[in-house]
Amino acid sequence: MPVPSTAPGAACAPAATHDLVQRLAKPLPRYTSYPTANHFSPGVDATAYAEWLAELTPGSALSLYLHIPYCRELCWYCGCSTKAVRRYEPVASYLELIRREAVEVARRLPRDHQVTHIHWGGGSPDILEPADIIRLGSEINGAFAIAGGAEIAVEIDPRLLDAPRADAFAAIGINRVSIGVQDFDEAVQKAIGRLQGYETTRRAVALFRDRGIGSINVDLVYGLPHQTEDSVSRTIEQVLTLTPDRIAIFGYAHLPSRLKHQRLIDDASLPGPTARYAQSARIAELLLGAGYVQLGLDHFARATDKLATTALKRNFQGYTTDQADALIGLGASAISRLPQGYAQNAVAADAYGKRLGEAGLATARGFKLGADDKLRAFVIERLMCDFAFSSRELSRRFGGRAMPLIREAEAVIEDDTDGLVQRTSDGFRMTPRGRPFVRNICARFDAYLDPETSRRRHALSV
Ligand SMILES: C[S@@+](CC[C@H](N)C(=O)[O-])C[C@H]1O[C@@H](n2cnc3c(N)ncnc32)[C@H](O)[C@@H]1O
Ligand code: SF4
Repeated sequence: MPVPSTAPGAACAPAATHDLVQRLAKPLPRYTSYPTANHFSPGVDATAYAEWLAELTPGSALSLYLHIPYCRELCWYCGCSTKAVRRYEPVASYLELIRREAVEVARRLPRDHQVTHIHWGGGSPDILEPADIIRLGSEINGAFAIAGGAEIAVEIDPRLLDAPRADAFAAIGINRVSIGVQDFDEAVQKAIGRLQGYETTRRAVALFRDRGIGSINVDLVYGLPHQTEDSVSRTIEQVLTLTPDRIAIFGYAHLPSRLKHQRLIDDASLPGPTARYAQSARIAELLLGAGYVQLGLDHFARATDKLATTALKRNFQGYTTDQADALIGLGASAISRLPQGYAQNAVAADAYGKRLGEAGLATARGFKLGADDKLRAFVIERLMCDFAFSSRELSRRFGGRAMPLIREAEAVIEDDTDGLVQRTSDGFRMTPRGRPFVRNICARFDAYLDPETSRRRHALSV
């Protein structure tokens, strides 16, 4: 169930104390999957993935994710799996591979599947030439059975978008667009290696709206160098003039030991946990005041938007309304989620191509979900989406096997001396004060969490 519009988000919470934020700001996963990808192993290979595909129930609803791992330049903060390219040749060669993978995957699927969602992500899919956008779109439509009314979304970098590309996206049926902005402040943009004037973004929004693509999301980031409560407020005011349907606000994940390009960002210019918390609270306050509904940890939408009116789900792209039985990831580093588990393709484009050539599929690693994993994955997804734990719902779905988790939930309630959770008739819900710390509560149900690995792999939870 989505968080109702009246539910207070971070902004309406009683101000968390400096001490609470400092204590709870820990390196923790964002829980876009459970277990998180660092627990994937080579035990899941192309053979296992092929079997999982073949075992899907005929008539399954499927979601497709197409990864385009290329950008014109690398933004210094970027945590995505992408590469900067000046020439088009590597992109064109990569397209041959992803087409081949689409055909290979489609022929292993059971009959009568229906693709209800397609998401082109990256990287920057608008780096593709217009003719290639149309060709890849047509090939995907040819390889899979696409349901009427399917949601087809694309992530774009507005600096690369022009009218022919917008035409091409419209021609292949794109009906939802996510636009990267991050921040409009010039000092912040210089410090993150991404210069993007307001006009560039306004033009991108107009190019899509002029072509009837009305559903627009804007991505913003807080916790970036030199950001302050005032500077993020100014960015929000500018974003509101674009009247987006959805706004995603990500906390900057700074992991310079893993992501070398992030070392271009001066650590001393980064806001600390208390300042990050205050920025996210100010953003929420402004967006709630402007009539948006807060959904999950970091998304806002108009009250009439599908994200606000449909049960929320969480996948590798963040929050979604996608209720499909399986998510099929296509492209280098793409992750598939099937009822049996996760399968991830080789990350580098050449390794991806090599595996595809040798095995017909590009799976490099993954995770086979056991009974306990499925239970925990369900609890963590519901907490991330609804901020609530229901033992009745857990027992209904998992029967007697739910008992250990119900006991763990009881321990969460008993250990809580910070007012993060509140007992309900059959479990707990997170209090307004607790919601910004939902990842800390999810971590209590994570059987694989190791503090040492977390320090290297995950960014601050606040
Ligand atoms: C694939 S990009 C969006 C499309 C396009 N490449 C662009 O940047 O305009 C996905 C989004 O992830 C977010 N992001 C990237 N790196 C991040 C990081 N280190 N921490 C938090 N959010 C990040 C940004 O908001 C970005 O817009
Ligand atoms: S934030 Fe977007 S444009 Fe920038 S490097 Fe990452 S994927 Fe590319």
